Amino acid sequence: MSRVVVVGSGAREHALAWALGRSADVVVTPGNSGMAAHGIATTSASPLDLEADLVVIGPESPLVEGLADELRRRGIAVFGPGLEGARLEGSKAYMKEFLAAAGVPTARFGVFEDENAADEFLRTMSAPYVIKTDGLAAGKGVLVTHDLDAARADVRAKLSGTAFGEAGRRVVIEEALTGPECSVMVLVDGVRAWPLVAAQDFKRVGEGDTGANTGGMGAYCPMPGLTHELDEVMEHIVTPTLRELAARGVDYRGVLYAGVMLTPRGPYLLEYNVRFGDPETEVVVRLYEDTLGRILDDCARGRLEMPPTSAPGAAVTVVLAARGYPEAPEFGHVIEGLGDDGQLAEPLEGVVVFHAGTRRDDSGRFMTHGGRVLAISAHAETIALARGLAYRAVDQVHFEGRVIRSDIARDVKEEEA
Ligand code: AMP
Ligand code: GLY
Repeated sequence: MSRVVVVGSGAREHALAWALGRSADVVVTPGNSGMAAHGIATTSASPLDLEADLVVIGPESPLVEGLADELRRRGIAVFGPGLEGARLEGSKAYMKEFLAAAGVPTARFGVFEDENAADEFLRTMSAPYVIKTDGLAAGKGVLVTHDLDAARADVRAKLSGTAFGEAGRRVVIEEALTGPECSVMVLVDGVRAWPLVAAQDFKRVGEGDTGANTGGMGAYCPMPGLTHELDEVMEHIVTPTLRELAARGVDYRGVLYAGVMLTPRGPYLLEYNVRFGDPETEVVVRLYEDTLGRILDDCARGRLEMPPTSAPGAAVTVVLAARGYPEAPEFGHVIEGLGDDGQLAEPLEGVVVFHAGTRRDDSGRFMTHGGRVLAISAHAETIALARGLAYRAVDQVHFEGRVIRSDIARDVKEEEA
């Protein structure tokens, strides 16, 4: 068996390692306490010190810091872009400039480091106002508000460094778009690009899409009825992006995650991420479980010649978060309803519990140890069935201050089979 090293510690990495484990020995650094259940080894060693046939980098930070370049210099196959490609996520100002150069449809925008200039621009815009940190903010750096004073206060808090440190010292202010959102994760092997099934993420913390933006409170896939829109995304968004990457001399190998809004004017790109989405990955891997290892390996080696094919059915994941998430999550509560391996104490066919922020205490109990604690993922024939199954599993698992949304994948209109 080949040996794959996965970098990261969340539910996304748990899900990737779970699927990669079908065809390889998997080691995750640093990993988490739920992974042992699936025979996944974890280590605190640096990925640079591990032997690997393939390294899969989960989170954005090591990509933005250039880990992929360093590994490639040592002759190791890596799934994940180098520093140049990762700038698409590392700086929203860079990304917007890139999109403009590539001719990709995206919201009208301005980039500001000065409060007065930002204020002047805001006054030329109409509500709702959209304000984003330039740098990385774990999905939490975006404010969408109808209130001009709140928009101004947010600009001030970001630029002064009090809200997001250095990441906020530059802001992007943009035109608000409307329409349903979808996450299109595209595999890029340096030359070719193939989309995985589209997923929908639920970004707000509260029911009915209310409250603060989070990393994501749940997801489902595939999104029904999007064949035409997906073609448009590939043609008008991804293809010009590949052309621009090539023009800039960037050999991009990894996943290019397009956060797309399906506006009345067609698909617009909200943002690029240079890694798998979380919690989108916790649903998408359910449909590529048997082939993920080969697909990512081919991608890393520049030979992904065929489009990946998905398994039938649908998947839904519900995130169990801690009280206070995303601002100030509480840690340290005992999690009830999990067996000794961290999976459901009473297993349900089709359900996998991916750990995000957990740890084991001295007596082996699973404790909450992060804002997002668990992502419970269900695979079934339809979205409705997967949803029912996911919530039956969620009902088994409790901890003090548990926060869930009960409306994940509730209003999806499925196509007749
Ligand atoms: P981002 O991190 O750029 O994907 O933004 C996070 C969330 O903010 C998105 O998923 C949207 O729900 C919302 N958002 C971002 N940009 C816009 C925009 N231009 N218009 C409307 N909503 C937006
Ligand atoms: N779920 C959104 C993200 O991964 O950025």
